[in-house]
Amino acid sequence: MSSVRGEFSSRFGFIMAAAGSAVGLGNIWGFPTQTASNGGAAFVLVYLILAFCLAYPALMAELVIGRYGQANAVSSLQKLSSKPTHKRFAFFVGFGGIVCAGLILSFYAIVAGWMFSATIEPVTKLVGMPGMTHWLSTQSLGRDLFFTSLFIILTIAIISKGVENGIEKWSKRLMPALLSILFLLIVYVLTQDGASKGLKAYLIPDFSSLLNPDLLVSALGQAFFSLSLGTSVMIIYGSYISKKENLVSLGAYVTLIDVLIAFVAGLLIIPAMYVAQAQGVDIFAADGSLLSEDTLVFQVLPALFNGMGEVGLFVGFAFFALMSIAALTSSISMLEAPVSYAVEKFALKRIQATWIIGALITLVSFTIIFNFNTLFGLVISLTTQFGQPLLGMLCCIFVGWLWNRGTLLKEIESGRPDIAATWFWKIWPWYIKFVCPIAIALVFIHSL
Ligand code: PFF
Repeated sequence: MSSVRGEFSSRFGFIMAAAGSAVGLGNIWGFPTQTASNGGAAFVLVYLILAFCLAYPALMAELVIGRYGQANAVSSLQKLSSKPTHKRFAFFVGFGGIVCAGLILSFYAIVAGWMFSATIEPVTKLVGMPGMTHWLSTQSLGRDLFFTSLFIILTIAIISKGVENGIEKWSKRLMPALLSILFLLIVYVLTQDGASKGLKAYLIPDFSSLLNPDLLVSALGQAFFSLSLGTSVMIIYGSYISKKENLVSLGAYVTLIDVLIAFVAGLLIIPAMYVAQAQGVDIFAADGSLLSEDTLVFQVLPALFNGMGEVGLFVGFAFFALMSIAALTSSISMLEAPVSYAVEKFALKRIQATWIIGALITLVSFTIIFNFNTLFGLVISLTTQFGQPLLGMLCCIFVGWLWNRGTLLKEIESGRPDIAATWFWKIWPWYIKFVCPIAIALVFIHSL
């Protein structure tokens, strides 16, 4: 039974929704690209360690805040302490996260719009619509405005249906579709010439680059972005989890799926790069670095698909459909963060709140499109390098320092009565209090 404010109807539903938020362009594009430009397998190893040792504990902090608060991110954080200064601080963190989620959506929608147009392009080639193919494959204001709006409207359509009939229902449909396409593509790419060279680069680490500080910064940033931390998203998803559920294992499943899909996407993209190279596409500079980090998805892979003839049209279609689906399950979570706040704070109807906030975000996206060279990179670094780690760290500080330990334990015990006797409870509170904030702060300072 769902409560009035909405609740995930099942464990599976929550896992698909939260994993849907986590698994996105960051996994399928960001992670493999970062791996390729940061020394291959060494980056993979550092990423895995940071994801489980820092990002998972931080994810647990956000989920537990939401489940305890049973409200939007600001109200949930404000319930943790009764001191007025803490409440103001809670507003800053919760509202900051909501703004961060909205801003991420505004650039994410532009990239997702490119994915949409790239999905349709092979179809227009197949049915013989050269004018349309040209329009879709050439960057123009009109094309970007159209597909960005289309993507935001789809996101709005899902979010306006609420938690169970919108977020949960669509995540349960889209995530299995995403997995199926991913596996089909991997099987295809791994059977092509050059793939084994890519597998080696991906899986055998060069230990000398392991402690490179730049690699650490990139890996932590990637882990935070990938788990959607510091954006209030996991707080709000946590607030839709029933008190009967075991949060510790739910959070672990979400982290595991997220990391696994990033890893598996690497099995697709890195070998695909070497396959493309074997077919004469320029990928690496003389020093082994990636020639075109930003254009991997839009130049290297399409060049590979083009070289495959008719099959390439199907493979290209499948690949960009995969990207579009991954983007959509993430974008719905970004929109839910501000919508849930507006619904609860201003007593708006969900459908009204969704359209108003969707329209505002579209305006920001359009502003970015019109000032692409100045704003696109700026909004990305502002949110992902600055906002997410900072707000994620502040959530850890809330849970570790400002929340009463007894109440925290009780919240985690709900759905997991023996928690006090487990290794999780022996380690996690220390992690949240000391290890996570200090590690995040160090990495953050370095990145500045
Ligand atoms: N986790 C998503 C990805 O890896 O693409 C991106 C994301 C989703 C970031 C939701 C922030 C967020 F609130």
